Amino acid sequence: MNHREQIIVALDVQTHEDFMQITHALQGHATYVKVGMELFYTFGPEAIKHLKKSKFKIFLDLKLHDIPNTVLKSVKTLCRLGVDMLNVHAAGGSQMLEAAVAGLKAAQMEQPQVKTKLIAVTHLTSVNEQILKQEIGIQIALQESVLQYASLAKKAQLDGVVASAQDVMQIKAELGKNFLCVTPGIRPLGSDGHDQKRITTPKDAIKFGSDYLVIGRAITNSQNPGHSFEEILKEIQA
Ligand code: C5P
Repeated sequence: MNHREQIIVALDVQTHEDFMQITHALQGHATYVKVGMELFYTFGPEAIKHLKKSKFKIFLDLKLHDIPNTVLKSVKTLCRLGVDMLNVHAAGGSQMLEAAVAGLKAAQMEQPQVKTKLIAVTHLTSVNEQILKQEIGIQIALQESVLQYASLAKKAQLDGVVASAQDVMQIKAELGKNFLCVTPGIRPLGSDGHDQKRITTPKDAIKFGSDYLVIGRAITNSQNPGHSFEEILKEIQA
């Protein structure tokens, strides 16, 4: 896989105009995009149809977290849209994760062409050790908790996890290099961290072994998103 295919651009926009503008600006630059809650709750499956028509690969980032039966049926429905990647929260526990896999298999029974990669969110990259301990109430170290969630996901036969790039080396060492690591919280040198706490440069994320880098505002807030995308590629390859 070349570096261009490893960058997933997060299309966190809400208006039709912004959606059309950003997809147009990314044509010929990005190959993989992420549809998150903002976009999906505004336009629903129509957003996926538009992106598929424009030949983008799609990561549908809805972070499902509910009882197993609801997750199974929701995963089945969403996989039928033909997305390339979909995620659920590992915090839902092993039964919920197994239900997600069962949902994918149920979609594949009906539509054998469905090839969705199913991944689990470990801890959000906006969560740091202090939030984990004082607010969420998990008393083990953040990295240990990430690894515990990643192991749950692997046991339930998911394809990988969403984690901070800072955790990738440990995840790959423990769970194998084929276990996918999708890493948000990426910031090119000298850019704004916004609400992200555990941030990594694109070059370091690749060096640590990330399979996919999720990059949003550093590209989508730019006056020229196509150019910003190419600058990030250059930064990785320098
Ligand atoms: O703009 P920025 O590059 O921070 O965007 C990161 C994207 O990755 C957002 O769409 C956010 O929802 C998503 N994400 C994240 N942390 C996770 C999972 C997804 O930031 N653990």
